Amino acid sequence: MNKTLLSLIVYVATLGVFHNVLFPIFTPKEIGMVMNRYVYYLIMVLTVIFLHLIMKLKPTMAFRGLMVWTLGFYFYKFILFPPVPWTLFITYMMLWSIGTFLYISQDPITFREFREPIVKTIVGEYKFAQILVFTLMPFLVGFGTYKALYPTFEEPVELRTVHPAPPATTKVHGKTYALEGLQNPFRIAEQDDYQDSFPFLDADKSEYMRHITDGGSLFFQNCHYCHGDQLNGLGMFSHVFNPTPANFVDPGTIAMLRESFLFWRVSKGGPGLPNESTPWSSAMPPWEEHLKTDEIWKIILFEYWYTGWHPRTFDGESSITLKE
Ligand code: HEC
Repeated sequence: MNKTLLSLIVYVATLGVFHNVLFPIFTPKEIGMVMNRYVYYLIMVLTVIFLHLIMKLKPTMAFRGLMVWTLGFYFYKFILFPPVPWTLFITYMMLWSIGTFLYISQDPITFREFREPIVKTIVGEYKFAQILVFTLMPFLVGFGTYKALYPTFEEPVELRTVHPAPPATTKVHGKTYALEGLQNPFRIAEQDDYQDSFPFLDADKSEYMRHITDGGSLFFQNCHYCHGDQLNGLGMFSHVFNPTPANFVDPGTIAMLRESFLFWRVSKGGPGLPNESTPWSSAMPPWEEHLKTDEIWKIILFEYWYTGWHPRTFDGESSITLKE
């Protein structure tokens, strides 16, 4: 059997076994003196040499050069730790390639030996190799160009302002509202008076619970797809959006906002956000196009009732302190 072919089989098999079986064993979480990736590499290289010696394999110069080159590649790609940046990797590989080339071209005999298979492939003496190389080459170049040119979508570097300063006024359904001092018309009494009541069950017992029930129905008709049926932002569509739908249970959203802020956000949605909030586009729809003013207020009432938060009030006290 051809000695170079045998050498190729031995080389590939050794690398395959080492990389897939021994590499994970030699890279445990707690690195020790023996269980060390560099020790692993040394053993792997020694095994390749040892197998070549006992099997008396003498691969051609070109293949020897290829082996040395790939061993270097393997070292920088998988062994060296922590991994080096891409540009440094290229630099190291250039140096490694030059070193390999110096080894090959150390004298005219080794250099001729190295060139032999390449020349024979090009002139057509190795017919099969020639066909293989010349058909694969255009595809590889094409694929490389495609990969390099294909646009990637990276996240913008600017940070998104989640809660921008609201405008002074907002116009909803033809009426202009000043946000400062704007109250929820359906907040009849303090929420705590109705702690033991339930929307839907107690809707006919008090006016307040009826508004909350209306808001709840509207929420489940319009909002829960994104904001979740537990109002935790994990609705069935939530996973495809960036930014993700707001989690109303979290103390960082409606708990620290005024109801007028919510009124503005719900009416105007993502399109109504000022520039500082839009490196990504919010999927939040402008609900003024689908809901009546009263309906928006009722949903807001429901969101606070369900989560148990208290809207931030105008004297600046936050609901978080109120809750304690
Ligand atoms: C298509 C998905 C989607 C639907 C449906 C949806 N939202 Fe949103 N909503 C979002 C996303 C995404 C955000 C977060 C980005 C942002 O602030 O605009 C958000 C944010 C919000 C905020 C701002 C919270 C904060 O902390 O600033 C409120 C209030 C809100 N939604 C209420 C509602 C209400 C009420 C409804 C139903 C009438 C609703 N949403 C329906 C996607 C949705």
